[in-house]
Amino acid sequence: MSRRRRIYEGKAKILYEGPEPGTLVQFFKDDATAFNKKKHEVVEGKGVLNNRISEYIFNHMNRIGIPTHFIKRINMREQLIREVEIIPLEIVVRNIAAGSMSKRLGIPEGEVLPRSIIEFYYKADELDDPIVSEEHITAFGWANPQEIDDLMSLAIRVNDFLTGLFLGVGIQLVDFKIECGRLWENDLMRIVIADEISPDSCRLWDMETNEKLDKDRFRRDMGGLLEAYREVAKRFGLMNENEPQRGTGPVLVKSDK
Ligand code: TMP
Ligand code: ASP
Repeated sequence: MSRRRRIYEGKAKILYEGPEPGTLVQFFKDDATAFNKKKHEVVEGKGVLNNRISEYIFNHMNRIGIPTHFIKRINMREQLIREVEIIPLEIVVRNIAAGSMSKRLGIPEGEVLPRSIIEFYYKADELDDPIVSEEHITAFGWANPQEIDDLMSLAIRVNDFLTGLFLGVGIQLVDFKIECGRLWENDLMRIVIADEISPDSCRLWDMETNEKLDKDRFRRDMGGLLEAYREVAKRFGLMNENEPQRGTGPVLVKSDK
């Protein structure tokens, strides 16, 4: 269909060359994967929802001065973004014990942590993204101490912002993952939030029922992934409820621009 140059293909997204130097197009696929692709399914409509939810969150972050790679949404599945040099770390912030932390440290899922905890994982599929410390990060040159400080303060700002954003629509932010990149402007470099923030990369529990509204529905074979993502979009006012639903595909309204 298109002759754009494909720069990179990941598990859930594809990056294409953008219309201008320094820009890329980020395409959201329908693929759902877990445990480093050992589990894989195509969930029709997931990419459209993640594109829209992530746009909503990134637009807000840009507005309140949390720097991101996001420029604008182009269509149902694509966003225009700034090209950055991705730092090979997944930065996880946890407010409530769940997932791998519960398993690793034996803390029951749902226990509120004494404070928000930041963890770093080294982005390497062949190693299943191992957890690493600041010592590994500086010794192997993935980021320097100043950059680690910047990553941690960005992560805390994102956590505070997202916690409030989700609280406002009756959702508890249990934990989330972000990726960051170096954005070069002439000789100046700053670190910005990259990738996406969506129910693929967050744990979201309904405040009333504790129902899971995130990718754990897929990881744990609970079913109802698309319905959960749609519910998140709906609470942010991104779904048009008056329009009849066509098949399983979501109907999206309202541009944030
Ligand atoms: P974890 O408990 O499996 O370590 O996950 C912590 C958070 O990070 C959770 O919100 C899901 C998210 N996450 C990703 O976005 N990508 C990943 O590859 C993993 C392992 C977790
Ligand atoms: N994103 C990872 C994968 O695709 C793991 C996960 O999200 O659980 O395997």
